[in-house]
Amino acid sequence: MSEPLFSVENLHVAYHKGQRNVVDGVSFEVRAGDRLGLVGESGCGKSTLGRAAMRLLSDDAQVGGQVKFQGRSVFDLSPSELRRFRGEAVALIFQDPMTRLDPLMTIGEHCLETLKAHEPSLSAQQAKQRAIDTLKSVKIPESRWAQFPHEFSGGMRQRVAIALALLLNPRLMVADEPTTSLDVTVSAQILQELTRLCTEREMGLILISHDLAMVAEYCDRIAVMYDGKIVETGTTQSVFQNPQHEYTRSLIGAALHLQKKTDTRREAHLPDGEPVSSDTVPILRLRNLRQHFALERNWMAQWFDRSDQTIRAVDDINLELSTGEILGLVGESGCGKSTLSRTILQLLHPTSGEVEFWSRLDPPRSSAASPAASSDSDGVSRSSRLPQSTNDDRAKCVRSLVHPSVGFARRSQTAG
Ligand SMILES: Nc1ncnc2c1ncn2[C@@H]1O[C@H](COP(=O)(O)OP(=O)(O)OP(=O)(O)O)[C@@H](O)[C@H]1O
Ligand SMILES: [Mg+2]
Repeated sequence: MSEPLFSVENLHVAYHKGQRNVVDGVSFEVRAGDRLGLVGESGCGKSTLGRAAMRLLSDDAQVGGQVKFQGRSVFDLSPSELRRFRGEAVALIFQDPMTRLDPLMTIGEHCLETLKAHEPSLSAQQAKQRAIDTLKSVKIPESRWAQFPHEFSGGMRQRVAIALALLLNPRLMVADEPTTSLDVTVSAQILQELTRLCTEREMGLILISHDLAMVAEYCDRIAVMYDGKIVETGTTQSVFQNPQHEYTRSLIGAALHLQKKTDTRREAHLPDGEPVSSDTVPILRLRNLRQHFALERNWMAQWFDRSDQTIRAVDDINLELSTGEILGLVGESGCGKSTLSRTILQLLHPTSGEVEFWSRLDPPRSSAASPAASSDSDGVSRSSRLPQSTNDDRAKCVRSLVHPSVGFARRSQTAG
């Protein structure tokens, strides 16, 4: 049998001295081309295990046991060896992509910086081509190269994080909930891409998730974690057909949707407790709502490519929502769901169209006639019940201080 690529032996982790072990005596191995799924409930220690194995925990953390990559102890690596180990040998895709992305750097700059740090011998042109090809493999087109992370949807940011991990052709990929913020179709494409690369490049994969059904589809082996320990491990087939631990059985039950479906419809109530019927008062109305963003390009790019590069994130949306109604908004990653919500909440100024909002206490009137509503020259009406802080300059200033990307958001919007 081949030498393991990566092995974890009796790993213990406590975040502070004297505190309980969050990871408690965990051992497993991954060979080249292996796909291991690590599943378990929230807080059971999965991410801690991934970070400890890559020596990413703070100095306060108490770590015991052994982690080896190709037979060498990861805990004995020198700082320069450790830098190569993280990225070139093993790549970690984090649960939250914003922890990986700098809001002040474009997507292209992120890729080039990574390549420059690890492969300085590449020419500028080679580096750019490699980066563009890798971004394309996660369905990010070249036209998005010069944009900033805040101009991407949550799912697209996660795809960029995955591209950054793939850039250096690592031998092992540790993917911590890599598709949590993605819709099912994009999530399936990304996982298919990851598993295809594992086979093609003989890359090992540790896929961390709480979703047993997803892990079972893409991994050959499963390790089930519970309260810091691995309580069960085996091939995907054996774990599913013959689960040994009570917790594994409950996970399988949930994955197979055995739980009784509950009726989630609830009757809406006004603050005074009086129920409202679902078809009485429309509370929100969107008319031809548009939110367009302009792609910033230098004059050369504009000269050679005269095609319209506007991103129509929200394009002519009309809908009405009545009191007591619950509207589900679904769609693939990057289709405009979050931009629509932000535009409704007036966190973004719409390019055109109207948002009308009122409560039963301020009965519906035409936006122009309503004293409770103000209408700007852009045709957006705001009711008195919208959060006023969103229109408050002081609030905007504080937001820009805590979130530097806010300033850029203004710059890249097209005029209304
Ligand atoms: N930096 C930290 N300092 C102290 N405790 C922490 C820290 N990070 C995580 N923990 C604790 O360690 C335990 C395990 O957390 P961890 O993030 O590893 O869980 P997880 O299995 O990845 O959960 P999830 O599925 O929600 O991501 C939790 O009790 C958590 O509160
Ligand atoms: Mg986690």
